[in-house]
Amino acid sequence: MDKNSIISKFKPDNDNLLNILHELQNTNPNNYLSTDDLKLVAKYLNTTYSSVYGVVKYYSMFSLKPRGKYVIRVCKSPLCHMIDGNGLIEHIKQNIGIGLGETTNDHVFSVEASECIGHCDEAPVIMINDKVYKGLDSEKIKEIFQGIKSNQ
Ligand code: FES
Repeated sequence: MDKNSIISKFKPDNDNLLNILHELQNTNPNNYLSTDDLKLVAKYLNTTYSSVYGVVKYYSMFSLKPRGKYVIRVCKSPLCHMIDGNGLIEHIKQNIGIGLGETTNDHVFSVEASECIGHCDEAPVIMINDKVYKGLDSEKIKEIFQGIKSNQ
């Protein structure tokens, strides 16, 4: 589906800005929003490029650079960080070979830091695309990546 068709599924109302950006990003195989995407959205909503850009920069779930098919968000808010330290990041690195802010060469995985994911009672927590994984340890991390890799 081309980008105009994706955008036009939504009414040209500023209230739809976040939904449009999510849809564009989610349908991009490289999981990001390009400059042209932002211009297209600004034109559709009859607003400025800089206001769309400001929203994209404000929300950490949006990216302006290409990412992997699977975006791993590691919660670094105080509770998860207090319980886990940098353990999850180390375990992730052992499984896929990359750390925070990196993307694998095959563009399958990216790892990012995240604010609280909203499941503090089961810390430490990560999110992979839209799915939340809670109460993690090295074994659970290993199982998660074995599962993803076997589905590739
Ligand atoms: S602090 Fe990590 S999910 Fe809330």
